[in-house]
Amino acid sequence: MCGIVGYIGSRHASGVLIEGLRRLEYRGYDSAGLATVDSKEIQLVKVAGKIANLSSVVQVNPISGTVGIAHTRWATHGPPSDINAHPHLDCQGTIAVVHNGIIENFDKLRRKIIESGHQLRSETDTEVIAHLLEEQIQNKTFEEALFSVLVQLEGTFGLAMICTNEPRKIFAARRGSPLVLGLGKNRDEFFVASDPAAIISYTQDIMYLDDNEVAVLSDSGVETFSLDRNRTDKKIESIEITVGEMERGGYSHFMLKEMHEQPEVVTNAIRGRLDFTEGLAVLGGLSDVVDQLRDLKRLTIVGCGSACLAGTIGSYMLEEYAGLPVNVQLASEFRYRKPILDPKREAIIVVSQSGETADTLGALREAKQKGVLTIGVVNAVGSSIARETDAGVFVHAGPEIAVASTKAFVAQVTVFALLTMFLGRMRGMSRSVGVKIAEELRVLPHKIDRILRQEEWIRLLARKYAHSPNMVFIGRKYNAAVAFEGALKMKEISYLHAEGFAAGELKHGPMALLDPSLPVVALMTRDSVFEKVRSNVEEVRARRAPVIAVVSEGDEEILSLTDDIMFVPRTLEMLSPILNVIPLQMLAFYTALARGHDPDQPRNLAKSVTVE
Ligand code: AGP
Ligand code: GLU
Repeated sequence: MCGIVGYIGSRHASGVLIEGLRRLEYRGYDSAGLATVDSKEIQLVKVAGKIANLSSVVQVNPISGTVGIAHTRWATHGPPSDINAHPHLDCQGTIAVVHNGIIENFDKLRRKIIESGHQLRSETDTEVIAHLLEEQIQNKTFEEALFSVLVQLEGTFGLAMICTNEPRKIFAARRGSPLVLGLGKNRDEFFVASDPAAIISYTQDIMYLDDNEVAVLSDSGVETFSLDRNRTDKKIESIEITVGEMERGGYSHFMLKEMHEQPEVVTNAIRGRLDFTEGLAVLGGLSDVVDQLRDLKRLTIVGCGSACLAGTIGSYMLEEYAGLPVNVQLASEFRYRKPILDPKREAIIVVSQSGETADTLGALREAKQKGVLTIGVVNAVGSSIARETDAGVFVHAGPEIAVASTKAFVAQVTVFALLTMFLGRMRGMSRSVGVKIAEELRVLPHKIDRILRQEEWIRLLARKYAHSPNMVFIGRKYNAAVAFEGALKMKEISYLHAEGFAAGELKHGPMALLDPSLPVVALMTRDSVFEKVRSNVEEVRARRAPVIAVVSEGDEEILSLTDDIMFVPRTLEMLSPILNVIPLQMLAFYTALARGHDPDQPRNLAKSVTVE
């Protein structure tokens, strides 16, 4: 969740840190702070609210120093406030700590340090770390103290720390929360960050810190250690994202930019991966595990939120076209139930935009424990899930900054279509079916363009329904998950209470809710379940609930059945979610604006959920 940046070099640290925080703000944004260090003191500023608040405080009271750490918080323990914001200090104000994650045994540790006479100021779990370090440091170097503290911590952490005893160093440690180390171009300045995005203006060269590793950054370089204090070797890698990709590029919001990028996103997801003659998908990331995939008898797909919904659509494709039984699970459930998996004949597909979602990472590790083949469908290259899976397919959507997933979802569904071709053609799928899917994938970007051109119309529709207290979304088969996704998008950014239902389920309970104040958004494009959804829409109309329908272009007949309509081009049924979700994203976006909310940074949420 949230973000960490640290800097050591010759620039004013506060400027570098605030710029880094701005680039991370999308990850968590309820409060922020920074601290710099010299041999005499730690200078600290931290405030509730967005980075802009922190920046204006620093403008009035500049913070000097060329070594510092900073944080943007997504509160888990204690409400967002100046005091609970990070960095946190020890009693004497000589150690400063920023933390992403949750210290699960903080209560026990808190009692212990209070008994030893420490005074805690905040309600956070994080602050105990500063005091534990203070306890340990009496007759030790910071590094030694840190190793003794880390073994006491349970839970997850990405940590960056500074101390007046060793003012030309930054210490970092990781367990479960991502951290990267950045090496300045001339190797005379160094960075630590929870996401490479924070430091892209300064360097392309990074090293990923692994779980249970410690890093020490100094003026002469970066050293890394395992928890048993042995030096570790790290590979220098390049940041794959650009500064331009991290900016709004003329759009009012990141979400709007990301929705408009979707034609290109589909093009990127399929680029170089389709053989139009043989109807094959060429997925280099799976080449090492082809034999295992050929023998597969069953698949499990896990993910959270939109990623899980993309997986649900994928499961329909894989069952229908590859003849593989697929079980889809929320990652947060999978990891705690007792999954029964056969390592010889089953595999798990782990879907994640960020590649850092704690629940999904937990599920992946649980599956590895069971010995099954693990495959990632991930956007963020270099992320924990991308690195820990045995094989995978990157979705290549580029950085997704808006909290609500749009382009990553579309890219994930596109990748599931590729996976379906890949696994299907190893099984019963004919060449002609493969070719047909490939041809249709190729023209999807133009079709998405056509939907995006209805933006103005969808904006008006959003305004018409924006003040409804509730909204229902319905769809069947491939589009049941699209209905869930439409509802998720709506509630997430507009705070309008929305629920998605498989259309056939309405009569099993939810229909009791219907009345003229409850708009129902129906996915009723021409597919194998069209007539069924149409009957469900008739049932809705009989209860006088307004119907907003997503229908196939040219399907004028539906006009008489519905109150409002959004058109989408015709496509293969299995690919229809890629088109049908787009008007729902737009509807949610403009509803959020009409209700006066910032769609990019909805309240209470964060982009990357690295806590359970
Ligand atoms: C979708 O709009 C969400 N913000 C959320 O459901 C998201 O898809 C989920 O948290 C999973 O994130 P991930 O893809 O980064 O793992
Ligand atoms: N658990 C810490 C807190 O509540 C860190 C949360 C975060 O990751 O931002 O302050």
